[in-house]
Order: sequence, then C-alpha cells, then structure tokens
Amino acid sequence: MSILVTGGAGFIGANFVLDWLAQSDEPVVTLDKLTYAGNLENLASLQGDARHSFVQGDIGDRALLDRLLAEHRPRAVLHFAAESHVDRSIHGPEDFIQTNVLGSFRLLEAVRAFWSVLPEAEKTAFRFLHVSTDEVYGSLSPSDPAFAETNRYEPNSPYSASKAASDHLVRAWHHTYGLPVLTTNCSNNYGPYHFPEKLIPLMIVNALAGKPLPVYGDGMQIRDWLYVRDHCSAIRRVLQAGRLGETYNVGGWNEKPNIDIVNTVCALLDELRPRADGQSYRTQITYVKDRPGHDRRYAIDARKLEAELGWKPAETFETGIRKTVAWYLDNAAWVARVQSGAYRDWVATQYGATP
Ligand code: NAD
Ligand code: DAU
Repeated sequence: MSILVTGGAGFIGANFVLDWLAQSDEPVVTLDKLTYAGNLENLASLQGDARHSFVQGDIGDRALLDRLLAEHRPRAVLHFAAESHVDRSIHGPEDFIQTNVLGSFRLLEAVRAFWSVLPEAEKTAFRFLHVSTDEVYGSLSPSDPAFAETNRYEPNSPYSASKAASDHLVRAWHHTYGLPVLTTNCSNNYGPYHFPEKLIPLMIVNALAGKPLPVYGDGMQIRDWLYVRDHCSAIRRVLQAGRLGETYNVGGWNEKPNIDIVNTVCALLDELRPRADGQSYRTQITYVKDRPGHDRRYAIDARKLEAELGWKPAETFETGIRKTVAWYLDNAAWVARVQSGAYRDWVATQYGATP
C-alpha cells in the first residue's frame, strides 16, 4: 500500500508528507514539478528513507502519470499541486489555467483509467482527495455567516477561478464516472516552509532584513488562519473517513484583519529577536496600493468536519504563530536559499524596487 502526493515539495504538501511519514510507515510517492514554489529542501529530512520516493514531473504529463500509477499502484492520490499565489495569478493567469485546470483534468483522467480496471476490493477502497481553498466562495461582508459547504461558488481572482474549476471537475468525475473523490476547502494556512511571497513569511523575512512591511490597502481585510499541521491532520481524517463525493470545509475559527497579523508578527520578533536600535519592527509597516479585486473577508464554518469526523485544530493562533516565527528564526539558511534570483524578480515586479 502507498499513497501518491502531488505538489509534495510545496508548503502544505511537504508538511503533509513529513507528518504522514512521522505517523505511519505507509510509503509516499511525491510527484512535483519543482516550480519556483517547490523546494526539495523541504523534504531533506527524508533523504535515504526507503518509504519516500520523489519524482520530478508535471501533473499535466499523462504518460508520466500512467507510468507512476502502474508502477506504484497507490491506494490514494492526494492532489496538492497547484499554482497557489493570488498576486501571481493577477500578473500572469495562464500558468494557473494550465496547472490548476488542465493539469487537474489530466490527473483525473489518468487516475480514472487506473482506478477503473482495479480489482473490485481495491477499487472500492481507492480515494482521490482534492485539496482546495475557501477562496472559491468569494468574499464575505462583515455580517455574513462563515462559508458553509453549501455556499455558492463566486471566485473573484484568476487563482480562485482556476481552483473553482478544478473543484467542479472533481465533482463531475465523481458524478459521471463514479470516481471515489473527496474535496477539502481550507482557509489560509501558515507555518514552517511557507514560501515568503505570502503574507506571514514575507512579513517575517522583510522585518528581519530591515525592509518595509507592505500592507495592502487599509490592512482591514480578514482572513481565517489555520496552522498548516492542523490542515494536514484534517486531510488525513477526511481521507480516512470522509463520505465519498462530499466536500469538507477546513478552518481554525480564527478570523483576523491583516494588520493584526502584521502587528502580532512584529511583537513576537520584538520579543525573540529585538532590533539593535531598540525600536519596534512596527515602525517598518508601510501601507501600499491594494490588490486588484481584493476579497475583503474569508471565514470558514468547519462544523461539518467536526460533527461528522470529529476533527478539531490542535493549535490556537497564539501557539501556532509563535512556533512559526521561531521556525523562521531557526531556519535562516532555508530563507536565504529560497530568496533566489527568481524570488528577487518577483519582489521587484510586485512591490517595485524598495521592499
Ligand atoms: P505552494 O505553491 O507552496 O506549492 C505548490 C506545489 O505544487 C509546489 O511544490 C509546486 O512545485 C507544485 N506544482 C505546481 N505546478 C505543478 C505541476 N504542474 N505539476 C506538479 N507539481 C506542480 O502551494 P501550497 O500553499 O502548499 O498549496 C497547496 C495546495 O493547497 C494548493 O492546491 C492550494 O490551492 C491549496 N490551499 C492552499 C492554502 C494556503 O493557505 N496556502 C489554503 C487552502 C488551500
Ligand atoms: O484562503 C486560502 C488561500 O490563502 C489559499 O487558497 C492561497 O493559496 C493562499 O495563497 C492564501 O491566499 P491569500 O491571498 O489570502 O494569501 P496571501 O498570503 O497572499 O495574502 C493574505 C492577505 O494579506 C491578503 O488579504 C493580502 C494581504 N497581503 C499579502 C501580501 C503578500 C498584504 O497586505 N501584503 C502583502 O505583501
């Protein structure tokens, strides 16, 4: 028995693979294209571990998928691979359509071909778990209830539209072909190995480098933050006991405006790595032009997952963010290496020359 994980060298996928192998001996095959966001260093602790195999490749490569499925005969495919950054999707949406829509389609087709000829017992036990996002539901006003699984889809960015499309494909492959699928729609994750183009790691690395902390618009947009390892435990639980064809919202009941997040990061850095001049990192906060089409508020209603499958997050935001800031302080070499030439090009494109 084994599982196939797509996108396992990225932020959440790598945390998932590491947690999986820390808790079970069931082998993992990781398929990852190693885009700018994929980093084999995230999986470095698995080097020489016979339970893990890494394959560099594209989920859009049908021949490779057919080969991998035939060779490893996984009992489940966990689909994390995606282009994941909203700002990049605004600058260049095509990669998002290629990977999130076309790539997911190719993967579904390869998995369907593999699954449809499995012996009956293996066919019944097989699962395709699609990892998706709360952004497919659009944006909430301050008084709206949190997103439930029954909310209608209203994606607003090229990224969320491409993820919504993949969710619909997964749903259709279940409805039409009977493929045994599960979908999770999760809120904003944070934690170790988070690429520093996203809010929390960007603030940590910019603060330590003495650079401006760029807050979009008025900084009052709300996100619902979940520690990444809690997302991983939710995925394991849904894989184990989720009802076929169902979607499960995953969230931490932890809504916060962006400016509060940035202030919290600054306060932790003030405590753990005070600035040489004795001033707070808060003095580096700089309000910048807003993201086009910026969703104002996300919030997840995770009651279905709790009621049906008994899942709850283990971390509070206070414990999770402290661990996260400490991880970045302890892993300066990882941070330095991911801030390659390509990363610097992105920062110049998005923020101009300064930050
Ligand atoms: P990430 O950008 O850190 O990692 C994505 C990984 O996918 C990278 O390793 C990349 O190399 C790989 N990849 C990209 N295109 C590929 C392709 N064509 N073939 C094979 N591999 C490819 O993303 P993440 O934050 O770890 O997100 C993982 C999944 O979780 C995504 O599907 C995302 O939509 C979803 N999600 C993310 C969050 C979040 O807060 N980060 C929240 C909810 C859902
Ligand atoms: O909600 C789940 C989604 O969360 C995932 O599906 C996405 O893959 C993931 O990237 C994340 O999307 P966001 O757009 O919410 O995350 P990001 O970290 O890019 O931004 C979080 C908030 O912070 C958002 O309101 C924009 C704001 N922001 C972001 C950056 C990078 C800033 O104010 N300044 C910044 O420099």
